[in-house]
Amino acid sequence: MSKPSVLVTRRIPSSVLTRLEEAADVELFSRGDLPHDELIGRIPGKQGLLSVVTDSIDRAVLEAGRDLKIVSTIAVGYNNIDIAAARERHIVVTNTPDVLTESTADLTWSLILGVMRRIVEGDRLVRRGQWKGFALDFLLGSDLRGKQLGIIGYGRIGQAVAARAPAFGMRIAYTGRGPKPGAGADGEFMPLDRLLSTSDVVSLHCPLTPETKHLINQTTLARMKRSAYLISAARGPVVDEGALVWALENRLIAGAALDVYEKEPQIHKGLLGFENVVLSPHLGSSAIETRTTMIQLAAQNIIAVLSGQPPITPIP
Ligand code: DGY
Repeated sequence: MSKPSVLVTRRIPSSVLTRLEEAADVELFSRGDLPHDELIGRIPGKQGLLSVVTDSIDRAVLEAGRDLKIVSTIAVGYNNIDIAAARERHIVVTNTPDVLTESTADLTWSLILGVMRRIVEGDRLVRRGQWKGFALDFLLGSDLRGKQLGIIGYGRIGQAVAARAPAFGMRIAYTGRGPKPGAGADGEFMPLDRLLSTSDVVSLHCPLTPETKHLINQTTLARMKRSAYLISAARGPVVDEGALVWALENRLIAGAALDVYEKEPQIHKGLLGFENVVLSPHLGSSAIETRTTMIQLAAQNIIAVLSGQPPITPIP
């Protein structure tokens, strides 16, 4: 019996590639981003697709993939996949939850610390040769201890971020669909408006959906304390970047630290000029161990489905 065919849209570790090649004929695109029309051109005849967050798996791709049985994304977020179109065609969609939770929570704390303690700003200043030496009032940041961390989206990653808060002496508030007793750290559920107006740090961990697109806009930013910081390691379009620039220009908030953007890899030019903004390039899960585990899990999902087994981590 001939092997199934799988399209892999990015270079993956050779150990995982070898394992996948034992189970399938693999076509690997290894030259960076696979252009959308080329993806459509390569998908006919493939039963499996191993993709990443920047591949737009829209209706056109799924229609062209007449033989597709599984789309396996190396990510927890799957807003780049037309789930309704996949369901219509009985194509299984899998993601890589859990394995990146801790890594993304760590990155979130590096954003919080980076912006509140002005580390990146200080690094830039040192490199420009502008450091004149120790001074009592030099580059004063904000303490974390005693402050409120407001988490929007109290799922796995939001709870893992919350779990680290006691170490920094921060109390937790969270919002979402409803209270989650017993979840994560000992957090207080509150409606979005109250969370925004009482938190010293607002950290986004919700998925991107039609409801959360531009959840952070002029109105919600204006509700935040002037001394508060906005953190996002969720999905770029949750924040209206134009509104964020407006809020920073008008000093409605103290600063922001972002890992994700509306139109990656482009970044709203207005954000680039602020010293009180930390901009990291979508690094949430980018630790060697985590990425390797994500890729392994995504490949295992393909191998399972193409050999007639149930997927390991189907999207909910
Ligand atoms: C995710 O897993 O969703 C991260 O953003 C990496 O793609």
